[in-house]
Amino acid sequence: MRKKISVIGAGNVGATVAQRIFDRGYADVALVDIIEGLPQGKALDMLESGPVLGSDATVVGSNGYEVTANSDIVVITSGIARKPGMSRDDLLFTNMKIIGDVTRKVVEQSPNCILIVVTNPLDAMAQHAYQVSGFPRERVIGMAGVLDTARFRTFIAQELKVSVEDVHAYVLGGHGDQMVPLTGYTNVAGTPLSQLLPADKLNALVQRTRDGGIEIVNLLKTGSAFYAPSAAVAAMVEAVLLDKKQILPCCVMLKGEYNVRDLFVGVPVKLGAKGAEEVIQLVLSPEEYMELRKSVEAVRELVGKMHEKAKTG
Ligand code: NAI
Ligand code: 2OP
Repeated sequence: MRKKISVIGAGNVGATVAQRIFDRGYADVALVDIIEGLPQGKALDMLESGPVLGSDATVVGSNGYEVTANSDIVVITSGIARKPGMSRDDLLFTNMKIIGDVTRKVVEQSPNCILIVVTNPLDAMAQHAYQVSGFPRERVIGMAGVLDTARFRTFIAQELKVSVEDVHAYVLGGHGDQMVPLTGYTNVAGTPLSQLLPADKLNALVQRTRDGGIEIVNLLKTGSAFYAPSAAVAAMVEAVLLDKKQILPCCVMLKGEYNVRDLFVGVPVKLGAKGAEEVIQLVLSPEEYMELRKSVEAVRELVGKMHEKAKTG
């Protein structure tokens, strides 16, 4: 029997995630959204691409959660996306309500699933889903690091005119302006990046990576990135479904690793059938460690605002 993946939110990211998974043919997909007809229409359209692509998987759309029952993995993309001029707090308060509501409904139908959270602000929303679900930390994972790292790798490959596959990198920390591209661990087929690029060029690529999300928002004007984000989610889904034990940067609850406790932050994680099976502890340089601290504090501040809002309503 095929595995079952549900995707909540049939907008840009959600529909593209559903499509990428359906196209691969190894899991049935359920797509849910509050807009009547949207998930149904997109799912039917995807299903009708099956004969052309050779996918025998099924994909159904619904405004209810019954179709998601007994999912192996549920990807949560529901919520509003940032548009030019919107503050981070606008997203935080609107999306925390949506994530709380959606998580409760998901858990009712699929108490044993693995949750992959995508909605922004990512680290805070992953933490909220974790708290609402009551799941163990292995089963709640935020997607951001795979995307941020893919952007960093793209810019490096473009600059050095090498294959993206030869660029190895990690971007850690929160999914925000303070994210931490680990330049010390970045290499091109084994050669450290610092031997290939002068410091000013390297710093410019780091900054472009940090601004990667807003660069797309400013171009699109009506929404945010979805092709690279959905590719990142599909890679995480595949690592879990195929029990790959792949080490990917993911946002998970830290319990003392990297000297961070009780907070969702992006770190390298071994992804397998049980979800986030292990947090990989890299040795950071003093500069990288300080940058991670700053990023952690930014996440902690946002989570603090979320908890305050939850108390005061
Ligand atoms: P979108 O606006 O295209 O789609 C969001 C969908 O969620 C809409 O179809 C909407 O009807 C639906 N929705 C809203 N409330 C819902 C509810 N209560 N139940 C079910 N569905 C509901 O937005 P897009 O571009 O798909 O982005 C989705 C979220 O993902 C945003 O918060 C965005 O900022 C975030 N994002 C995060 C990334 C990351 O790296 N973590 C990357 C890209 C996007
Ligand atoms: C991004 O980085 C919007 O978080 C999203 O593109």
